[in-house]
Amino acid sequence: MNQSKRYTVTAALPYTNGPVHIGHLAGVYIPADIYARYLRLKGHDVAFMCGSDEHGVPITLKAKNEGVTPQEIVDKYHEIIKKSFADFGISFDNYSRTSASIHHETAADFFKDLYDQDVFEEQVSEQFYDEAEEQFLADRYLTGNCPNCGNEDIYRDQCENCGITIQSPKDLLNVRSTITGNIPVLKETKHWYLPFDETFLSNWILKDHQNDWKSNVLGQVKSWIDAGLRPRAVTRDLDWGIKVPVEGAEGKVLYVWFDAPIGYISATKEWAEREGKDWKPYWQNNESELVHFIGKDNIVFHCLIFPQMLKYHSENYHLPTNVPANEFLNLENDKISTSKNWAVWLHEYLEEFKGQQDVLRYTLTTNMPETKDNNFTWKDFQTKNNSELVNTLGNFINRILVLTNKYYDGIVPSPDDFSDYDKEVLNAIKEYPQKIGKNIETYHFRDALSDFMKLAHLGNKYLADEEPWKVIKIDENRTKTIMYVGLQVATALAQLAEPFLPYTAVKLQSFLNIQSISWDEIESVELLPTGHTINKPELLFSRIDDDVIDAQIQKLEDSKTENKMTNPNAKPQKEECTFDDFQKIDLRVGTILEAKKVKKADRLLEFQVDTGIDVRTIVSGVAESFSPDDLIGKQVMVLVNLAPRKIKGIVSQGMLLLTDKEDGKLSFVTPDDTIKNGEIIG
Ligand code: 2FM
Ligand code: ZN
Repeated sequence: MNQSKRYTVTAALPYTNGPVHIGHLAGVYIPADIYARYLRLKGHDVAFMCGSDEHGVPITLKAKNEGVTPQEIVDKYHEIIKKSFADFGISFDNYSRTSASIHHETAADFFKDLYDQDVFEEQVSEQFYDEAEEQFLADRYLTGNCPNCGNEDIYRDQCENCGITIQSPKDLLNVRSTITGNIPVLKETKHWYLPFDETFLSNWILKDHQNDWKSNVLGQVKSWIDAGLRPRAVTRDLDWGIKVPVEGAEGKVLYVWFDAPIGYISATKEWAEREGKDWKPYWQNNESELVHFIGKDNIVFHCLIFPQMLKYHSENYHLPTNVPANEFLNLENDKISTSKNWAVWLHEYLEEFKGQQDVLRYTLTTNMPETKDNNFTWKDFQTKNNSELVNTLGNFINRILVLTNKYYDGIVPSPDDFSDYDKEVLNAIKEYPQKIGKNIETYHFRDALSDFMKLAHLGNKYLADEEPWKVIKIDENRTKTIMYVGLQVATALAQLAEPFLPYTAVKLQSFLNIQSISWDEIESVELLPTGHTINKPELLFSRIDDDVIDAQIQKLEDSKTENKMTNPNAKPQKEECTFDDFQKIDLRVGTILEAKKVKKADRLLEFQVDTGIDVRTIVSGVAESFSPDDLIGKQVMVLVNLAPRKIKGIVSQGMLLLTDKEDGKLSFVTPDDTIKNGEIIG
């Protein structure tokens, strides 16, 4: 048994401007829960903390749009989110919220501590101000016209029309306040900035943790540090949030990203108060571990900003042991999008798949985006349920328990001599707790679950190989041994399931009439002794039929329609590219001078195209849609700077732009007037 340690495990505080979906669960809350449950079973002292992130501009915007107060918005979603997590068995020791008074105090005190030590840099800058509303305007409250193309009513970020990046709302033309429509004035305002100690951060993460932190996390941290860490404003001119607790800061609140991670500390304080414990060792003791579970978009805040805040604080806060950030989960090969309703919402799943939380937990763990973005599909969900949970785990458990009741009235039989195969299975059971544990400790949750399932496969195969239902007719003693061995595997599964499939573990333990034991005991004790009486089992998992899956797919299709997609078959938009990326592409108007079939290639035509720059050869797979003679003299669009490629021995120097028609044939993208060859498109 390892020495017991103290662990603070945190899961990113979700924003309370909408419910939570499968992406959240797979990326953050399931891995955190598996980890926390496992640590508890190992006998560690665990504080698993989370809560609602209730500040920030998007919440005020949502409230404005819905004509309610921000508090009403956060109250509504806090309850929905909290319930979804509880229903999925996410075993937080405390799920708090950043509007709680304990959090306001903790965050304000934290700021004051740094302020009193003169950590912050004060900077005065000019910001837009709405005189009618008497308030400064966050970027999201400003709109204007694109300075490049004149596109109207755009925000900071990117102009959707011409693609340029708008660095600051000051770059917009005819800038207006979205609250009143008035033209705002520029007014000076003071803010507090958090400076970074790059040497400390770089040594601590990139040197000390180069071997034990995930490479996706190290990669992001390195690129932030390489780019140079400029001081970050940690206050905002806003009236929703935690008041900045110093003189001269009226009308200002802490930046949401300054207060949110402090939410982990206030949640711990709230919990400790309730439990009659001291919160400090969970945060201020170098012997304690601190692990933050987050998605990749939160890396900079948890690896650089929050640790820097902890480091500056005058009390001795310890730094995170690890920040095992995950990548993102896609849904049916498309990015999950709250605004497009392209998501599987947890509260809806719970309504539609009552009692099947573990099926989703299982599928999401197998698809966890641990090292790269991963994908959830309803078909895969169905296959994993039907072939892995029902046919393997469920089938094995059902067989062994039904037979024990049938042959021995539910009493575990006494084994006779063990065969080599029996011994192999019994030994394997003892290896799994460590194998699975090692994977969990190193944040390889998919591998850990896959090991668990290997044991289920082993049990299933053992029974199928040994066929106790046949042996019983000829050898009662041998049957008893087989059943005894099978029951040990079932018991190991009942104990090992707990971190991954907590509802299933409870059911299994009740079928077997056992209590949960510690992780280390699984390998050291006799799991189910002879003479123990088990209960009658029920079905663990049930098949999910095609119509249920089709209905879910249809629901997603419907949300595409609701999103006003004029072409429901249109492929999802590709990954965003920058204006600079686009500028690399050299598109020209050209004219087809010659066209002929390519020998031994039914689909290809070889063209001579006048691009205005030159006359060049281009090979294109259009022979099934056009006859060569019809194309001579046609103006087309040509990608001229595509690297030359050899196709059927011919060097093709470019690409002709085409699109699909409904009948499956191709159509050239052509100018609607005669244009000089060589004119640039863009
Ligand atoms: O990205 C988010 O959803 C943030 N609300 C996460 C905050 S994590 C922490 F700092 F509280
Ligand atoms: Zn533009």
